Amino acid sequence: MKTIRLDKKTFRQLISNSEIQSAVSELARQISEDFKEKSLVCLCILKGAVYFFSDLTKKIELDLTTEFLELSSYKGQIDSQEVRLLKDIQNSIKGKDALIVEDIMDTSKTLNFLIEHIKSKKPKSISVCTLIDKRERRESDLKADYTGFEIEKGFVVGYGMDCNELGRNLNDIYVLDK
Ligand code: IMP
Ligand code: MG
Repeated sequence: MKTIRLDKKTFRQLISNSEIQSAVSELARQISEDFKEKSLVCLCILKGAVYFFSDLTKKIELDLTTEFLELSSYKGQIDSQEVRLLKDIQNSIKGKDALIVEDIMDTSKTLNFLIEHIKSKKPKSISVCTLIDKRERRESDLKADYTGFEIEKGFVVGYGMDCNELGRNLNDIYVLDK
C-alpha cells in the first residue's frame, strides 16, 4: 500500500490517477450528452477543484465558457463555521446553464451557499458536479447532479485537495491514516 507523509501526518493512497481519469471521462461523457443543446458555463471553485476542472472541461466535447470563484475553506481538518466569497466571477452568466465544479462535498454548506450566490446571477439552470461525495457529515438533502466517487468519511488530499495548503499537487488521492 502506497503511503505518504504530509504536514507530519500519514496518508495512504485511496484513488489512483488512472481511476480518477476514468471517472472524469465518464462524467465528461454524461455532461456532453446532457448539455448538448445548452449554453454551458463551467464554474471552477478555487482552489480545490482546479485540477479536476482542468481535466473535466478538456474532456467535455461542447462549446463552453469558464469562470472562477474562490470561497473561504477548511483550516486544515476543522471546518469553518461560515462560508465567505473571496473571489467572484467576472462575466455575466445570465440565461446560461451553469455547472458548478467542486472537488469534494462534505457538509454541503459550501455548495448551498454557492448555489444561492449563483442564483442571484440569473442563470437559466444550475447543476452541480463534485469529484467526491463524502456522505457522513451531510447537513442538507442537497444531491450533486454528477459525482465521481462516493466515500463515507475520511480526510482526503491530492488532485487539488489540501491539508493546510499542502498536497494539492499530488497526482493521486490519499486519505488520512488513523
Ligand atoms: P462542505 O462545505 O462541508 O461541504 O465542505 C466543502 C469544502 O471543504 C470543499 O470544497 C473542500 O475545500 C473542503 N473539504 C471537505 N472535506 C475535505 C477533505 O477531506 N479534504 C480536503 N478538503 C476538504
Ligand atoms: Mg473546495
